[in-house]
Amino acid sequence: MAQKRAYWDSRLAFILASIGSAIGLGNIWRFPYVCYKFGGGAFLITYIIALFSAGIPLLLLEFIIGHRTEKAAPSAMNAIKFVLTGKEGDETVAEKKGNFEWVGWFALLIGFFITTYYAVVMGWSFDYLVYSIKLSWGNATKDFFFNNVLGLTSGPFHLGSIQWPIVAGLAVSWIWIILSIWKGAKTVGKVVYVTVLLPWLLILIFVIRGITLQGALNGIRYYLTPNLKELLNVSLWHAAYSQVFFSLTVGFGVMIAYASFLPRDVDIVSSAFIIGLSDAATAYVGGFAVFSTLGHYALLQHTSVSAVMKSGPQLAFITYPTIINHLPLAPLFGVLFFLMLLTLAIDSAFSLVEAIVAGLMDKFGWNRKKTNIGVAVLAFIFGIIYTTGAGLYWLDIVDHFMNFFGLFIVGFLEATIVAYIIKPEILRIYANRQSYIKVGKWWISMIKYVVPIVAIILLFFSLKDAMLKHYGGYKSLALFLGGWLVLIIAFTVAILLSNLKTGGEQ
Ligand code: TRP
Repeated sequence: MAQKRAYWDSRLAFILASIGSAIGLGNIWRFPYVCYKFGGGAFLITYIIALFSAGIPLLLLEFIIGHRTEKAAPSAMNAIKFVLTGKEGDETVAEKKGNFEWVGWFALLIGFFITTYYAVVMGWSFDYLVYSIKLSWGNATKDFFFNNVLGLTSGPFHLGSIQWPIVAGLAVSWIWIILSIWKGAKTVGKVVYVTVLLPWLLILIFVIRGITLQGALNGIRYYLTPNLKELLNVSLWHAAYSQVFFSLTVGFGVMIAYASFLPRDVDIVSSAFIIGLSDAATAYVGGFAVFSTLGHYALLQHTSVSAVMKSGPQLAFITYPTIINHLPLAPLFGVLFFLMLLTLAIDSAFSLVEAIVAGLMDKFGWNRKKTNIGVAVLAFIFGIIYTTGAGLYWLDIVDHFMNFFGLFIVGFLEATIVAYIIKPEILRIYANRQSYIKVGKWWISMIKYVVPIVAIILLFFSLKDAMLKHYGGYKSLALFLGGWLVLIIAFTVAILLSNLKTGGEQ
């Protein structure tokens, strides 16, 4: 039997939870890098445009869908047709509009695959938190990460051996995730006070530490000097929109689930703005922490900032440990740095698991705790592949495909379904009825034109890239298994799940 829905204790809890979901590793290790790569200050302009034209509109769309239907993504995408025709219970109108439940499942499955490796990165961070205490990485930080920690092999098909310390870190991450969502929104609403406020504090500490280092200014100059010529570069726009999609965690069904746990009369319009802007601000401020420190590092190495700038795992697990070695109180900064990564990542990871659990509970009426553990165990097992010596290769491939295809496919589907099959105007009226800040007609244009068109163009570029070159120089078979096959599985399972008829439906 379906259980009683757990609601947020307060609107603040909801806002913090959504911010926690949005803010993650992407803010710290991806944003500063793409910003620098695509013309510094010029990228900021594009990013803001992408945020207002696609990010926040989609976020608001997901909030409205979740809030109006009071269901997690799959059931919400099914129920939406009844709701949005304005004639609840009018099955004849609804039938013609089809069943979009599979879109919800597809979104959750894409997110599921992301979480399987996101938790592994958390596992590395746990291990590094421990290594910080004795600065175990020594001076050869690169060698330590690739050889000692990852046991990296020569390619995706040389699995090497399972790295047990990573498995241990991964297990700890999953236990932490399960506990954080133990009673759904009730638990999440408490956990996020720590997992959002603590990383904010830690980022500030790293900004202050960074800008007081010698050479800091030089680094910041790299970060922000605008190169306006770049504005004409299509890749810049591609990067800005994909960064916005990924960073806000839109298109994963998370925000639908989170909004479904809201009480009825809540201002969702301003919530969407607050969350979108907080995420952007965090990324922007995080950039100062990263670049000031890199400026200092470049000075130490007698080289340029561009020579030391890396993104992703390299930045966090090789460059940063090297910098930490040179700081006074090195172990302390090491612990704080990896604690920052962990607290940034945890609430993004558990938001997705919660979205999946809520989806399964809504559809099948399953027991929360068992579903929780079941999803976690499954994701943990999938994660084992990333703990092998070939793990980094697979992580790279799956990550690329999920972000360059999965994300835009869902964004496109969500916006198009609402825009053309169901009327967005009904949603706008619904949102405005209870919101202090009203959303104007511009929102409809964004959902109808900008989001679908942008998503299609981005998909087109991603496809073109995929056809013309082998991503990362991997063999076709590796790209097929880690990329296309994963997408096909997500799609097939989504269709299967949406066609299962069971108890939980009302
Ligand atoms: N928004 C998160 C970040 O900026 C990343 C993220 C997006 C994510 N979707 C996710 C993490 C799904 C885990 C699962 O880092």
